[in-house]
Parts: sequence; C-alpha cells; structure tokens
Amino acid sequence: MPKKRLLSGIRPTGSLHIGHYLGVLRNWAELQNEHECFYFIADWHTLTTKYKDTKDLPNDIIEVAKDIVSSGIDPNKCTLYVQSAIQEVAELHLLLSMVTYHNWVERDPTLKDMVRLLAEDEEKAKQEVTYGLLGYPVLMTADILSVLGEFVPVGRDQVAHLELSRDIARRFNFIYKTELFPEPKPLLTETPSVIGIDGRKMSKSLNNDIKIIDSPEETKKKVLQMITDPNKIKKTDAGDPAKCQVAYKHYEIFADKQTLSIVQDECRGAKIGCVDCKTRLAKIINESLVQVRNKRQNLKTDKEILETLNEGNKKARQVVKHTLEKVRDAMKLRNWN
Ligand code: TRP
Ligand code: SF4
Repeated sequence: MPKKRLLSGIRPTGSLHIGHYLGVLRNWAELQNEHECFYFIADWHTLTTKYKDTKDLPNDIIEVAKDIVSSGIDPNKCTLYVQSAIQEVAELHLLLSMVTYHNWVERDPTLKDMVRLLAEDEEKAKQEVTYGLLGYPVLMTADILSVLGEFVPVGRDQVAHLELSRDIARRFNFIYKTELFPEPKPLLTETPSVIGIDGRKMSKSLNNDIKIIDSPEETKKKVLQMITDPNKIKKTDAGDPAKCQVAYKHYEIFADKQTLSIVQDECRGAKIGCVDCKTRLAKIINESLVQVRNKRQNLKTDKEILETLNEGNKKARQVVKHTLEKVRDAMKLRNWN
C-alpha cells in the first residue's frame, strides 16, 4: 500500500491493559513506519458516558500517553495529540451533525450496544442516552475527516461507526459539491481478543484486567486467579486445554507453538498442576512485556509528557485548521479572523 494518511484514537480510561497493547498499540507502532499517522487521545469521547465524574481525566490522559509512548509509538514519526486540544474538531462535529440524519445514527449497532451497557434494564438504558452519546459516531467522523484520514485502524466493533462516517463524508461532498472528504475505510487487524482473568471481556471497569504497568508480581497474582479446566483439580487429574477457558487462551496468545504443545502434553497427561502451569504462563506474559515496562519506568516526567503532547497538538492543529477553512468555504460560511 502506498503511503496513506491514517487516523486512530483511544479513549483515556486510565492505565491501559494488555488487550489494548496487543490489539491497538502494537499495531499503531508498526503502522507509523509506513504511513502518515495521526494518533490521538479521545477525551471528549470519554465524556459521552463518563461526564458526571471527570476528576481523574487529566491524570488518565497522562497515563494513557505514557502507555502509548512506551509501546513504541514515536511522536517524531507520527502526530500524537489530544482531541480536546483541537477545538476545530468540535466545530466540525457541529457542522457534520447538520447533514447527518438522525436515523442514520440510531441505526448504528455499536452505539446500540453502548446504550445497552448504560443500565441493566433496557428502558432505563434508553433514558440515559444523552445527545452527546448519540453523537459518538459523528464525533468520530469529525476526528477522522478533520485530518482527511483515509484509513482508520480499528477493531471490528468500530466498523459500524465507520460506515456512518462514509455516509456522512459522501453526503457532505454531494450537498456542497466538493471532493474535500475521503470516505474513510477501516484498516482491520486480526488481533486476538484478550479475555479478562474471570473469562469475561478484559476491561478496567470489570476489574479483570492485567495492566501494562502491573509489576511482574502483580501479573503473576492475577494469572494465578485465572479459571482453568474445572475437571482438573489435582496435578494427577488429566485436563483438557480446550476446556481451560482463560489460562490456556492466554497461552495461545502469548506462547510459541513449541510451548503450546508442551502445555497440551503436560495438561492431558496429568504431568503438571494448574498452579505450576499458570506460574509458567505468568513468566511468559511478563517476558513479552519486559521491553514496554522498562520503557515505561524510564519514561519522562509528567511535565515532559505534556510537552510532547503539546507539540503534537500544534502539529495536528495546523492540519485541522486548514481542513476547517475548506469546510467553511464549501458551506459558504465566512472564515472570520
Ligand atoms: N471509538 C474508539 C474506541 O472506542 C475511539 C475513537 C474515537 C476513534 N475517535 C476515533 C477511533 C476516530 C478511530 C477513529 O476505540
Ligand atoms: Fe489449563 Fe494448564 Fe491447568 Fe491444563 S494444566 S487446565 S492448560 S492451567
């Protein structure tokens, strides 16, 4: 693929977990070498659901920035910035909302899933939906189009949002007789979905995650809590890795083929107990995170991280300002100075 302009964002949920690392950050780090990448921390998107309690947000942004940089994303190779620092993105969100049909947004299945998570009871959940949350995919569209992003590296769950982005871009171009906006396409990477130590989706809010910043000891403690084949209680019980829903799944993600066949043999042949088996797993997970964790420990101070972000903000802002001038021109809005 020739050099393309890419954009992707991550919500600042506080310290990131190994699912983010494997699913998002590792991929970002690779893509920055081949493409023109814009990566940003989507703090406004966090507000779509967590607007009531924002006290942790300033620090969460710094923690996420640290995780991003330690995972190999190089602010000299890409543009790393914070969404809320680019006020023109909010303006674009507003302008795009004018051409976006209400029912386009309501159809978005990912948004429907997000709504369901707001409350146990479906009716109650619907009542909790704010105007801002409804605008979630429109704001994403503004993020992407503000830098004229052509490709968007995301997970499968975000694909529905991007369909709406293409509809909005197309409709804007059609109405204002312009070719300003590209129709952004997802760049899917087949990354393993990492489950939490309790077998549910790995998530900070479920408190079942292993964090990038966890110490090797903390990691081990969490790995030892992972569910295993319920039929294997003692070392001398034969187990089945296929029924080892959490621990073996992590082996599949982190271990090489040779190790996997050893684990299978030892598990089926009752040659190892689950505690020993998981201790080995913890070691493998820790080894694969050594580099990132070292980098994170030796990282710059908060002040330096903020400076790095500020530089990225400046770079991004230049590009976005330019886009907005063109948007205003297309819509016959005056570029006030
Ligand atoms: N919605 C994305 C997520 O939860 C984060 C995000 C916000 C994003 N704006 C974006 C991703 C624009 C890609 C492009 O993962
Ligand atoms: Fe899982 Fe290992 Fe126990 Fe087998 S021995 S059930 S693979 S933890």
